[in-house]
Amino acid sequence: GQSIAILTSGGDAQGMNATVRACLRMAIFLEYKVFLIKEGFQGLITGGDYIFLADWKSVSGILHLGGTSLGSSRSPEFMERSGRLKAAYNLVMLGISNLIAIGGDGTMTGINTLKQEWHLLISELVETSQIIQQKAINVSLLNVVGLVASIDNDFASTDMTIGTDSALSRIVSALDNIQTTATSHQRCFILEVMGRHCGFLGVAAALASEADWLFIPEYPPEKGWEEKMCERLIKMRDSGQRMNLIIVSEGATDKNGRPITPNQIKDAIENVKLDTRITILGHIQRGGHPSAYDRILASRMGAEAVLCLVDYNKDSLPQVIAVEGNSITRISLIDSIAKLRSLKTMMEERDYDRVAVARGQYFVS
Ligand code: F6P
Repeated sequence: GQSIAILTSGGDAQGMNATVRACLRMAIFLEYKVFLIKEGFQGLITGGDYIFLADWKSVSGILHLGGTSLGSSRSPEFMERSGRLKAAYNLVMLGISNLIAIGGDGTMTGINTLKQEWHLLISELVETSQIIQQKAINVSLLNVVGLVASIDNDFASTDMTIGTDSALSRIVSALDNIQTTATSHQRCFILEVMGRHCGFLGVAAALASEADWLFIPEYPPEKGWEEKMCERLIKMRDSGQRMNLIIVSEGATDKNGRPITPNQIKDAIENVKLDTRITILGHIQRGGHPSAYDRILASRMGAEAVLCLVDYNKDSLPQVIAVEGNSITRISLIDSIAKLRSLKTMMEERDYDRVAVARGQYFVS
C-alpha cells in the first residue's frame, strides 16, 4: 500500500502527541504504511534513523502527554532549497508520497514550498542516478496535509489551533493564583502572555479574568494611554476593587510600532502610587498536559487529515485541517498562507483597522 509520513515541527504545543496518534491510527486502520519522523523537518533532511516505520503501539500512552514525543525543531536548513532537496531524496528513497506536517505557520509555509517545488526537486534528483529514477515513479506526486498546532491561535481560517485551549487554562490558573496574593496586598499585577504577533491569548485571558486593561499587537493604544489606564485603575479601586490586573501580549506595541513592555507599564502606574508587580508566564504556557478540548480537537483533526489524503487526486490542491463552528473542515493551504502574508503586511504597515477586520471584530469592540 501507500506510505504516509508524519512529523511535528516548529514550537511545540499541547496536543501534538494526540494529533500524531490519531493520524497514525487512522492511517493504519486504512492500511497505509506509516513512517514517523523525529525532530521535524530536520529529521526529514537527516534521514536514516530519524525516519522510522511505526506500528499501532508506537503511539500508545501519549494522548495525554504535552510536548511532542517525536521531537521538534525550527529548521533553518529546510528554509533553503538544498535542505528541501535532501528531504525530497529521503522521501523518494522510502517511497513516501504522503506527508502530514503538524506545526505552526512556519511549518505550513514549509510544506507549501515543498509541494510547489516537488516536480523540480524530483527532476533534479532523477538526473543523479538510475535507482532514484526508478523509485521516483512511485512518488511523482507528493500529497501534503497541514495540521495547525500552536498555542498562539494565529492561523487564518480556523477557529482554534491545537494547544491554544491548554495554554489558556495555564494562563487562567496563573491568574487565579495572582488574584489571591494581589488582593491580600492591594497590588496591581501586570501579566505578560505569549502569542508572538497575535493577541488572541491576551484577549481570551482578559475576558476570563475580568482584567482592567489589555495590550495586544492588533490594537495599539492611542497616545496618552498611560493616563487613561491609570484613571481606570483608580476608578476600579474607588469602586471597591482591592487589586488590578493588566494583561500584556508579548508582541504589543504602540501606534508607532514601538514595543510596550511590562516595565514601561509599571513605570506609568507608579505615577499613581499603586504597588505593582510583574509576572511573565513564558513557556509555562506551552508546557504540561493538553486539556480535554485539545485532546479531542487533535484527535478529530488528525483523523480528518488522513481522510483528506485518501480523497486527494492528481489535481487536488493541498489542504489544512481547520475547525469552523465546531465542525472539522478542510481549507486551502495556499489561500490560508496568502491570508497570513497579507495580515503580516497589514501589521507591518500598521493598518490596524484592516487587521481588526481580518482577525475578527471582537478585537475592536
Ligand atoms: O509560537 C509559539 C510561541 O510560544 C510564541 O507564543 C512565542 O513567541 C514563541 O513561540 C517562543 O519561541 P521559542 O520557544 O523559540 O522561544
